[in-house]
Amino acid sequence: MDFENENRIVSPDFLESDSDLEMSLRPKTLREYIGQEKAKENLKIYIEAAKGRGEQLDHVLLYGPPGLGKTTLAGIIANEMQVQIRVTSGPAIEKPGDLAALLTNLGDGDVLFIDEIHRLSRSVEEVLYPAMEDNALDIIIGKGPSARSIRLDLPKFTLVGATTRAGQLTAPLRDRFGVIARLEMYTPEQLSQIVRRSAGILGIAIEDEGALEIASRSRGTPRIANRLLKRARDFAEVMGNGVITADNAKIALSRMEIDELGLDSVDRLLLTSMIRNYNGGPVGLETIAATIGEEAVTIEDVYEPYLMQIGFLSKTPRGRVVTPLGYRHLGIPMPGQQQLDLS
Ligand code: ADE
Repeated sequence: MDFENENRIVSPDFLESDSDLEMSLRPKTLREYIGQEKAKENLKIYIEAAKGRGEQLDHVLLYGPPGLGKTTLAGIIANEMQVQIRVTSGPAIEKPGDLAALLTNLGDGDVLFIDEIHRLSRSVEEVLYPAMEDNALDIIIGKGPSARSIRLDLPKFTLVGATTRAGQLTAPLRDRFGVIARLEMYTPEQLSQIVRRSAGILGIAIEDEGALEIASRSRGTPRIANRLLKRARDFAEVMGNGVITADNAKIALSRMEIDELGLDSVDRLLLTSMIRNYNGGPVGLETIAATIGEEAVTIEDVYEPYLMQIGFLSKTPRGRVVTPLGYRHLGIPMPGQQQLDLS
């Protein structure tokens, strides 16, 4: 992860400083898990059916933007199935032998969770196919003409894979998942419920309006909402009587330079410099990068996704463009509209 993102309070990625918080706040059952109704309802049925038959759950692929609770959901699946979970990630499994070691150490019916599964290497993926399909591990012994392959039986297991980019998964891997669930951004109401639940667990007093204020600036992402909750508590304690209200939440968020839609100062600088210097675009990524003094890759990976998702920025073959919605949010009239107003 790059340094810029490491310090950014509205980053959807898991940051070092999230670890204690996320551990204590993670729901353990489907009942406690707020939102993602479609994924949840289906999983509930598959889990109940598998348990009824006394079988392990089919392999599950969870995909969607970062910070929406894929790891949390994998933990819930294991907990609901009453099995153990082993957690790893695509980049952490470097060699086929690493995966073989993980697989042979699983207990019967256990969940193996592989985060960022699209980053598995080809040679590792090939070990995974027979494991997912036949609960078998094919091992090649020897080299050259005398090499032979032996097949080892593995414990039955459920692979839960998570990815932010389902499109980057190879077709043979994708086809081996029985259940594919897409996670979606949370609504402010759902996030508000999550914020109130988290506040309850952490012993933070919060009014409903305070929770909604935090929720609506959290970019549809529980991880961001929980982080902002922690910061808002500091403000409420130092500036008030410790209760988070709409008013002190607003003050806290504006001190953090996070606006009504969850944009931070760099998001706004990016858009305003495109408008002031390049008439809102089209302008090339490298040019924007040089103008605001950020790396082009940082802009592309860290800042643009959310701005595009909320329709403030669009990519065209000739470069990036600020949309009318983007202008409106910044309170800057669009050149065309200005003429209209004057006539
Ligand atoms: N914390 C993070 N995500 C959550 C969710 N979906 N439900 C409840 N608490 C959460």
